[in-house]
Amino acid sequence: MKTYLITGGAGFIGSNFVYYMLGRHDDILLVNLDKLTYAGNLENLRGVEGDPRHVFVQGDICDRELVSGLFAQYNFDYVINFAAESHVDRSIANPEIFVQTNVMGTVNLLQRAKEAWYDAEKKTWKDGKKFLQVSTDEVYGALGAEGFFTETTPLSPHSPYSASKAGADQFVMAFYDTYGMPVNITRCSNNYGPYQFPEKLIPLMINNARHHKPLPVYGDGLQIRDWLYVEDHCKAIDMVAAGGRSGEVYNVGGHNERTNIAIVQTILAQLHDRLSDEGISEALIRHVEDRLGHDRRYGIDPQKIRSDLGWFPETPFEQGILKTIDWYLANERWMNGVTSGSYQRYYEEMYRNR
Ligand code: NAD
Ligand code: TYD
Repeated sequence: MKTYLITGGAGFIGSNFVYYMLGRHDDILLVNLDKLTYAGNLENLRGVEGDPRHVFVQGDICDRELVSGLFAQYNFDYVINFAAESHVDRSIANPEIFVQTNVMGTVNLLQRAKEAWYDAEKKTWKDGKKFLQVSTDEVYGALGAEGFFTETTPLSPHSPYSASKAGADQFVMAFYDTYGMPVNITRCSNNYGPYQFPEKLIPLMINNARHHKPLPVYGDGLQIRDWLYVEDHCKAIDMVAAGGRSGEVYNVGGHNERTNIAIVQTILAQLHDRLSDEGISEALIRHVEDRLGHDRRYGIDPQKIRSDLGWFPETPFEQGILKTIDWYLANERWMNGVTSGSYQRYYEEMYRNR
Protein backbone atom coordinates (compact mmCIF):
# COMPACT_ATOMS: atom_id res chain seq x y z
CA MET A 1 0.00 0.00 0.00
CA LYS A 2 1.22 3.53 -0.81
CA THR A 3 0.68 6.33 1.69
CA TYR A 4 0.37 9.95 0.63
CA LEU A 5 0.58 13.19 2.54
CA ILE A 6 -1.80 15.45 0.61
CA THR A 7 -1.57 19.05 1.78
CA GLY A 8 -4.33 21.54 1.02
CA GLY A 9 -6.69 18.71 0.18
CA ALA A 10 -9.78 20.61 1.34
CA GLY A 11 -9.24 23.28 -1.33
CA PHE A 12 -10.26 23.27 -4.97
CA ILE A 13 -7.66 21.11 -6.72
CA GLY A 14 -6.69 19.14 -3.61
CA SER A 15 -10.25 17.94 -2.98
CA ASN A 16 -10.66 17.02 -6.64
CA PHE A 17 -7.38 15.08 -6.37
CA VAL A 18 -8.68 13.17 -3.33
CA TYR A 19 -11.77 12.09 -5.33
CA TYR A 20 -9.64 11.29 -8.37
CA MET A 21 -7.23 9.08 -6.44
CA LEU A 22 -9.84 7.24 -4.37
CA GLY A 23 -11.80 6.59 -7.55
CA ARG A 24 -8.82 4.97 -9.28
CA HIS A 25 -6.62 3.29 -6.67
CA ASP A 26 -7.75 0.78 -4.05
CA ASP A 27 -4.57 0.24 -2.14
CA ILE A 28 -3.73 3.76 -0.96
CA LEU A 29 -3.96 5.84 2.18
CA LEU A 30 -4.37 9.61 1.78
CA VAL A 31 -3.59 11.73 4.84
CA ASN A 32 -5.04 15.13 4.09
CA LEU A 33 -3.42 18.01 6.01
CA ASP A 34 -5.27 21.29 5.61
CA LYS A 35 -5.41 24.42 7.75
CA LEU A 36 -8.97 25.16 6.60
CA THR A 37 -8.32 28.79 5.66
CA TYR A 38 -11.13 30.71 3.94
CA ALA A 39 -10.34 28.58 0.84
CA GLY A 40 -10.50 25.19 2.55
CA ASN A 41 -13.84 23.61 3.21
CA LEU A 42 -14.76 20.23 4.68
CA GLU A 43 -17.94 20.33 2.60
CA ASN A 44 -15.63 19.67 -0.37
CA LEU A 45 -14.77 16.30 1.17
CA ARG A 46 -18.27 15.19 2.13
CA GLY A 47 -18.20 12.50 -0.56
CA VAL A 48 -15.28 10.66 1.11
CA GLU A 49 -16.64 10.73 4.64
CA GLY A 50 -16.31 7.26 6.15
CA ASP A 51 -13.81 6.05 3.53
CA PRO A 52 -10.99 4.40 5.53
CA ARG A 53 -8.49 5.30 2.79
CA HIS A 54 -8.80 9.01 3.67
CA VAL A 55 -7.76 10.64 6.95
CA PHE A 56 -8.30 14.37 7.49
CA VAL A 57 -6.00 16.35 9.78
CA GLN A 58 -6.60 20.04 10.41
CA GLY A 59 -3.27 21.84 10.68
CA ASP A 60 -0.68 24.13 9.17
CA ILE A 61 2.07 22.96 6.79
CA CYS A 62 4.35 25.39 8.66
CA ASP A 63 3.90 23.44 11.94
CA ARG A 64 7.15 21.54 12.45
CA GLU A 65 6.02 19.20 15.22
CA LEU A 66 2.73 18.33 13.62
CA VAL A 67 4.32 17.46 10.27
CA SER A 68 7.14 15.45 11.93
CA GLY A 69 4.54 13.53 13.92
CA LEU A 70 2.59 12.70 10.78
CA PHE A 71 5.73 11.37 9.05
CA ALA A 72 6.48 9.20 12.12
CA GLN A 73 2.92 7.91 12.28
CA TYR A 74 2.27 7.20 8.60
CA ASN A 75 5.68 6.60 6.97
CA PHE A 76 4.64 8.48 3.82
CA ASP A 77 5.76 7.37 0.36
CA TYR A 78 4.64 10.59 -1.30
CA VAL A 79 4.12 14.20 -0.36
CA ILE A 80 1.86 16.07 -2.78
CA ASN A 81 1.96 19.72 -1.80
CA PHE A 82 -1.17 21.61 -2.89
CA ALA A 83 -1.42 23.81 0.21
CA ALA A 84 -0.97 27.46 -0.67
CA GLU A 85 -2.42 30.88 -0.64
CA SER A 86 -3.57 30.86 -4.25
CA HIS A 87 -5.28 34.10 -5.23
CA VAL A 88 -3.32 36.79 -7.10
CA ASP A 89 -5.59 39.67 -6.02
CA ARG A 90 -5.23 38.74 -2.34
CA SER A 91 -1.44 38.56 -2.79
CA ILE A 92 -1.41 42.11 -4.13
CA ALA A 93 -3.32 43.28 -1.03
CA ASN A 94 -1.42 41.18 1.54
CA PRO A 95 1.83 39.54 0.37
CA GLU A 96 3.25 38.35 3.73
CA ILE A 97 0.98 35.35 4.23
CA PHE A 98 1.97 34.17 0.73
CA VAL A 99 5.63 34.04 1.77
CA GLN A 100 4.72 32.33 5.03
CA THR A 101 2.56 29.56 3.61
CA ASN A 102 3.92 29.12 0.10
CA VAL A 103 7.64 29.46 0.83
CA MET A 104 8.12 28.72 4.53
CA GLY A 105 5.45 26.02 4.52
CA THR A 106 7.07 24.27 1.56
CA VAL A 107 10.51 24.46 3.19
CA ASN A 108 9.08 22.95 6.38
CA LEU A 109 7.59 20.05 4.40
CA LEU A 110 10.90 19.52 2.55
CA GLN A 111 12.83 19.48 5.82
CA ARG A 112 10.46 17.07 7.54
CA ALA A 113 10.47 14.79 4.48
CA LYS A 114 14.26 14.84 4.43
CA GLU A 115 14.43 13.91 8.12
CA ALA A 116 12.11 10.97 7.50
CA TRP A 117 13.51 9.76 4.17
CA TYR A 118 17.27 10.47 4.26
CA ASP A 119 19.91 8.34 5.95
CA ALA A 120 22.57 10.95 6.72
CA GLU A 121 25.25 8.37 7.57
CA LYS A 122 24.86 6.31 4.42
CA LYS A 123 23.92 9.40 2.40
CA THR A 124 21.07 7.49 0.80
CA TRP A 125 17.37 8.07 0.35
CA LYS A 126 14.82 5.40 1.18
CA ASP A 127 13.39 3.72 -1.92
CA GLY A 128 10.09 4.71 -3.44
CA LYS A 129 9.80 8.18 -1.91
CA LYS A 130 8.87 11.38 -3.73
CA PHE A 131 8.06 15.01 -2.98
CA LEU A 132 5.77 16.51 -5.62
CA GLN A 133 5.34 20.28 -5.61
CA VAL A 134 2.16 21.49 -7.29
CA SER A 135 3.19 24.72 -8.97
CA THR A 136 1.85 27.05 -11.59
CA ASP A 137 2.64 28.44 -15.04
CA GLU A 138 2.53 31.91 -13.43
CA VAL A 139 6.13 31.44 -12.22
CA TYR A 140 7.26 31.98 -15.83
CA GLY A 141 5.77 35.50 -15.99
CA ALA A 142 3.80 36.71 -19.00
CA LEU A 143 3.97 35.89 -22.71
CA GLY A 144 3.52 38.17 -25.69
CA ALA A 145 1.29 37.15 -28.57
CA GLU A 146 3.65 34.36 -29.69
CA GLY A 147 5.26 31.31 -28.09
CA PHE A 148 4.65 29.07 -25.08
CA PHE A 149 6.13 28.35 -21.67
CA THR A 150 8.39 25.30 -21.71
CA GLU A 151 10.13 23.75 -18.70
CA THR A 152 13.30 25.68 -19.58
CA THR A 153 11.63 29.10 -19.77
CA PRO A 154 13.38 31.23 -17.12
CA LEU A 155 11.36 32.00 -13.99
CA SER A 156 10.14 35.59 -14.07
CA PRO A 157 7.22 35.96 -11.68
CA HIS A 158 5.36 39.28 -11.47
CA SER A 159 2.78 39.03 -8.70
CA PRO A 160 3.51 38.36 -5.03
CA TYR A 161 1.60 35.07 -5.50
CA SER A 162 3.73 33.90 -8.40
CA ALA A 163 6.92 35.16 -6.72
CA SER A 164 6.13 33.03 -3.66
CA LYS A 165 5.41 29.99 -5.83
CA ALA A 166 8.67 30.53 -7.73
CA GLY A 167 10.49 30.79 -4.40
CA ALA A 168 8.99 27.49 -3.29
CA ASP A 169 9.98 25.86 -6.61
CA GLN A 170 13.55 27.05 -6.16
CA PHE A 171 13.70 25.44 -2.71
CA VAL A 172 12.36 22.16 -4.10
CA MET A 173 15.08 22.17 -6.77
CA ALA A 174 17.67 23.17 -4.16
CA PHE A 175 16.77 20.05 -2.14
CA TYR A 176 17.24 17.98 -5.28
CA ASP A 177 20.54 19.64 -6.24
CA THR A 178 21.99 19.73 -2.72
CA TYR A 179 20.77 16.53 -1.09
CA GLY A 180 19.59 14.46 -4.06
CA MET A 181 16.04 14.46 -2.72
CA PRO A 182 13.58 12.69 -5.03
CA VAL A 183 11.34 15.50 -6.27
CA ASN A 184 9.12 16.64 -9.12
CA ILE A 185 7.46 19.94 -9.87
CA THR A 186 4.32 20.27 -11.96
CA ARG A 187 3.48 23.69 -13.42
CA CYS A 188 -0.10 23.80 -14.56
CA SER A 189 -2.17 26.42 -16.34
CA ASN A 190 -5.47 27.81 -14.97
CA ASN A 191 -7.82 25.12 -13.68
CA TYR A 192 -11.60 25.16 -13.63
CA GLY A 193 -14.24 22.74 -12.34
CA PRO A 194 -16.22 21.82 -9.20
CA TYR A 195 -15.34 23.18 -5.74
CA GLN A 196 -13.41 26.26 -6.96
CA PHE A 197 -13.74 29.17 -4.56
CA PRO A 198 -15.73 32.03 -6.16
CA GLU A 199 -12.91 34.55 -5.88
CA LYS A 200 -11.54 33.05 -9.14
CA LEU A 201 -12.82 34.10 -12.55
CA ILE A 202 -15.09 31.23 -13.60
CA PRO A 203 -17.06 30.49 -10.40
CA LEU A 204 -17.27 34.21 -9.60
CA MET A 205 -18.81 34.96 -12.98
CA ILE A 206 -21.21 32.00 -12.77
CA ASN A 207 -22.38 33.07 -9.33
CA ASN A 208 -22.75 36.75 -10.18
CA ALA A 209 -24.49 36.16 -13.51
CA ARG A 210 -26.93 33.78 -11.93
CA HIS A 211 -27.96 36.48 -9.47
CA HIS A 212 -27.97 39.24 -12.12
CA LYS A 213 -25.04 40.97 -10.40
CA PRO A 214 -22.46 42.99 -12.38
CA LEU A 215 -19.60 40.97 -13.89
CA PRO A 216 -16.30 42.76 -13.11
CA VAL A 217 -13.97 42.25 -16.08
CA TYR A 218 -10.51 43.67 -15.37
CA GLY A 219 -9.29 46.19 -17.94
CA ASP A 220 -10.06 45.37 -21.58
CA GLY A 221 -10.73 41.68 -20.79
CA LEU A 222 -8.33 40.61 -23.55
CA GLN A 223 -5.88 38.91 -21.20
CA ILE A 224 -5.40 35.27 -22.13
CA ARG A 225 -5.36 32.21 -19.87
CA ASP A 226 -4.89 28.55 -20.86
CA TRP A 227 -7.77 26.68 -19.18
CA LEU A 228 -7.61 23.04 -18.10
CA TYR A 229 -10.39 20.96 -16.54
CA VAL A 230 -9.30 20.12 -13.00
CA GLU A 231 -9.61 16.35 -13.43
CA ASP A 232 -7.01 16.47 -16.21
CA HIS A 233 -4.64 18.24 -13.84
CA CYS A 234 -5.28 15.54 -11.20
CA LYS A 235 -4.46 12.87 -13.79
CA ALA A 236 -1.18 14.63 -14.58
CA ILE A 237 -0.19 14.80 -10.90
CA ASP A 238 -0.95 11.10 -10.42
CA MET A 239 1.15 10.23 -13.49
CA VAL A 240 4.07 12.44 -12.46
CA ALA A 241 4.05 11.04 -8.91
CA ALA A 242 4.11 7.49 -10.27
CA GLY A 243 6.39 7.89 -13.28
CA GLY A 244 8.10 11.28 -13.35
CA ARG A 245 11.90 11.22 -13.44
CA SER A 246 13.33 12.66 -10.24
CA GLY A 247 14.46 16.27 -10.46
CA GLU A 248 12.24 17.00 -13.45
CA VAL A 249 9.70 19.76 -13.97
CA TYR A 250 6.56 18.95 -16.01
CA ASN A 251 4.37 21.64 -17.54
CA VAL A 252 0.66 20.77 -17.68
CA GLY A 253 -1.78 22.42 -20.05
CA GLY A 254 -4.11 21.61 -22.90
CA HIS A 255 -3.57 24.32 -25.55
CA ASN A 256 -6.87 25.90 -24.63
CA GLU A 257 -6.22 29.63 -24.63
CA ARG A 258 -9.14 32.02 -24.25
CA THR A 259 -9.49 35.69 -23.49
CA ASN A 260 -11.24 36.53 -20.24
CA ILE A 261 -14.02 38.30 -22.06
CA ALA A 262 -14.65 35.20 -24.21
CA ILE A 263 -14.89 33.09 -21.04
CA VAL A 264 -17.43 35.51 -19.57
CA GLN A 265 -19.45 35.54 -22.79
CA THR A 266 -19.50 31.72 -22.90
CA ILE A 267 -20.72 31.54 -19.30
CA LEU A 268 -23.44 34.11 -20.00
CA ALA A 269 -24.67 32.30 -23.11
CA GLN A 270 -24.73 28.89 -21.42
CA LEU A 271 -26.40 30.13 -18.24
CA HIS A 272 -28.97 32.07 -20.27
CA ASP A 273 -29.88 28.91 -22.15
CA ARG A 274 -29.75 26.57 -19.18
CA LEU A 275 -32.01 28.76 -17.02
CA SER A 276 -34.06 30.41 -19.80
CA ASP A 277 -33.37 33.67 -17.99
CA GLU A 278 -33.49 36.87 -20.06
CA GLY A 279 -31.83 38.78 -17.18
CA ILE A 280 -28.59 36.91 -17.89
CA SER A 281 -27.02 38.87 -20.74
CA GLU A 282 -23.90 40.79 -21.73
CA ALA A 283 -25.50 43.90 -20.24
CA LEU A 284 -24.17 42.60 -16.89
CA ILE A 285 -20.53 43.02 -18.00
CA ARG A 286 -18.62 45.91 -16.39
CA HIS A 287 -15.08 46.75 -17.44
CA VAL A 288 -13.44 47.75 -14.15
CA GLU A 289 -10.00 48.98 -13.14
CA ASP A 290 -7.29 46.53 -14.19
CA ARG A 291 -5.31 44.32 -11.80
CA LEU A 292 -1.90 45.78 -10.88
CA GLY A 293 0.91 44.11 -12.82
CA HIS A 294 -1.67 42.05 -14.73
CA ASP A 295 0.00 39.31 -16.80
CA ARG A 296 -1.24 39.55 -20.37
CA ARG A 297 -0.97 35.98 -21.56
CA TYR A 298 -0.15 32.51 -20.25
CA GLY A 299 0.26 29.52 -22.57
CA ILE A 300 1.74 26.11 -21.79
CA ASP A 301 3.68 23.80 -24.06
CA PRO A 302 2.76 20.36 -22.63
CA GLN A 303 4.96 18.37 -25.03
CA LYS A 304 7.26 16.96 -22.35
CA ILE A 305 4.56 15.38 -20.17
CA ARG A 306 2.89 14.06 -23.32
CA SER A 307 5.98 12.38 -24.72
CA ASP A 308 7.60 11.26 -21.44
CA LEU A 309 4.53 10.08 -19.54
CA GLY A 310 1.75 9.79 -22.14
CA TRP A 311 -0.45 12.40 -20.47
CA PHE A 312 -3.10 14.17 -22.53
CA PRO A 313 -6.15 16.23 -21.54
CA GLU A 314 -9.41 14.31 -21.81
CA THR A 315 -12.00 17.04 -21.34
CA PRO A 316 -12.48 19.55 -24.19
CA PHE A 317 -13.29 23.05 -22.92
CA GLU A 318 -16.81 23.06 -24.42
CA GLN A 319 -17.63 19.93 -22.42
CA GLY A 320 -15.76 20.97 -19.26
CA ILE A 321 -17.38 24.38 -18.99
CA LEU A 322 -20.86 22.83 -19.31
CA LYS A 323 -20.04 20.26 -16.63
CA THR A 324 -18.74 23.07 -14.44
CA ILE A 325 -21.77 25.32 -14.92
CA ASP A 326 -24.09 22.39 -14.24
CA TRP A 327 -22.15 21.52 -11.08
CA TYR A 328 -22.52 25.06 -9.69
CA LEU A 329 -26.20 25.12 -10.58
CA ALA A 330 -26.74 21.78 -8.84
CA ASN A 331 -24.72 22.83 -5.79
CA GLU A 332 -26.36 26.07 -4.77
CA ARG A 333 -26.13 25.09 -1.10
CA TRP A 334 -22.33 24.79 -1.44
CA MET A 335 -22.13 28.20 -3.12
CA ASN A 336 -24.37 29.80 -0.49
CA GLY A 337 -22.19 28.30 2.25
CA VAL A 338 -18.91 29.67 0.88
CA THR A 339 -20.30 33.09 -0.05
CA SER A 340 -21.86 33.87 3.30
CA GLY A 341 -20.08 35.96 5.96
CA SER A 342 -16.43 36.74 5.24
CA TYR A 343 -16.84 36.38 1.45
CA GLN A 344 -19.20 39.35 1.43
CA ARG A 345 -16.59 41.48 3.19
CA TYR A 346 -13.88 40.26 0.83
CA TYR A 347 -16.01 41.06 -2.23
CA GLU A 348 -16.90 44.48 -0.95
CA GLU A 349 -13.26 45.37 -0.21
CA MET A 350 -11.85 43.92 -3.42
CA TYR A 351 -14.40 45.37 -5.83
CA ARG A 352 -15.70 48.54 -4.14
CA ASN A 353 -13.11 50.89 -5.58
CA ARG A 354 -12.67 49.28 -8.96
P1 NAD B 1 -7.18 26.79 -3.01
O1 NAD B 1 -6.91 28.17 -2.52
O2 NAD B 1 -8.53 26.42 -3.50
O3 NAD B 1 -6.83 25.75 -1.86
C1 NAD B 1 -5.70 25.88 -1.04
C2 NAD B 1 -5.88 24.94 0.16
O4 NAD B 1 -4.71 25.05 0.98
C3 NAD B 1 -7.07 25.32 1.05
O5 NAD B 1 -7.79 24.16 1.39
C4 NAD B 1 -6.43 25.94 2.29
O6 NAD B 1 -7.17 25.74 3.47
C5 NAD B 1 -5.10 25.18 2.33
N1 NAD B 1 -4.05 25.92 3.05
C6 NAD B 1 -3.72 27.23 2.90
N2 NAD B 1 -2.72 27.54 3.74
C7 NAD B 1 -2.40 26.41 4.42
C8 NAD B 1 -1.44 26.07 5.41
N3 NAD B 1 -0.59 27.01 5.87
N4 NAD B 1 -1.38 24.81 5.87
C9 NAD B 1 -2.24 23.87 5.41
N5 NAD B 1 -3.17 24.13 4.48
C10 NAD B 1 -3.25 25.38 3.99
O7 NAD B 1 -6.08 26.52 -4.12
P2 NAD B 1 -6.15 25.61 -5.43
O8 NAD B 1 -6.67 26.42 -6.54
O9 NAD B 1 -6.78 24.31 -5.09
O10 NAD B 1 -4.60 25.40 -5.71
C11 NAD B 1 -3.90 24.30 -5.15
C12 NAD B 1 -2.45 24.37 -5.58
O11 NAD B 1 -2.36 24.32 -6.99
C13 NAD B 1 -1.75 25.65 -5.15
O12 NAD B 1 -0.45 25.33 -4.73
C14 NAD B 1 -1.73 26.51 -6.41
O13 NAD B 1 -0.61 27.36 -6.42
C15 NAD B 1 -1.62 25.43 -7.47
N6 NAD B 1 -2.19 25.78 -8.80
C16 NAD B 1 -3.48 26.26 -8.88
C17 NAD B 1 -4.01 26.54 -10.14
C18 NAD B 1 -5.43 27.03 -10.30
O14 NAD B 1 -5.83 27.37 -11.41
N7 NAD B 1 -6.24 27.05 -9.25
C19 NAD B 1 -3.23 26.34 -11.29
C20 NAD B 1 -1.93 25.84 -11.15
C21 NAD B 1 -1.43 25.55 -9.89
P1 TYD C 1 -8.03 34.30 -11.68
O1 TYD C 1 -9.16 33.32 -11.75
O2 TYD C 1 -7.86 35.11 -10.46
O3 TYD C 1 -6.69 33.45 -12.00
P2 TYD C 1 -5.19 33.98 -12.30
O4 TYD C 1 -5.10 35.42 -12.01
O5 TYD C 1 -4.37 33.16 -11.35
O6 TYD C 1 -4.93 33.65 -13.73
O7 TYD C 1 -8.15 35.29 -12.91
C1 TYD C 1 -8.17 34.80 -14.24
C2 TYD C 1 -8.20 36.00 -15.16
O8 TYD C 1 -9.45 36.68 -15.00
C3 TYD C 1 -7.13 37.02 -14.86
O9 TYD C 1 -6.64 37.57 -16.08
C4 TYD C 1 -7.86 38.11 -14.07
C5 TYD C 1 -9.26 38.03 -14.62
N1 TYD C 1 -10.34 38.39 -13.67
C6 TYD C 1 -11.28 39.37 -14.00
O10 TYD C 1 -11.23 39.97 -15.08
N2 TYD C 1 -12.26 39.68 -13.09
C7 TYD C 1 -12.34 39.07 -11.88
O11 TYD C 1 -13.26 39.41 -11.08
C8 TYD C 1 -11.40 38.03 -11.56
C9 TYD C 1 -11.45 37.31 -10.25
C10 TYD C 1 -10.40 37.73 -12.49
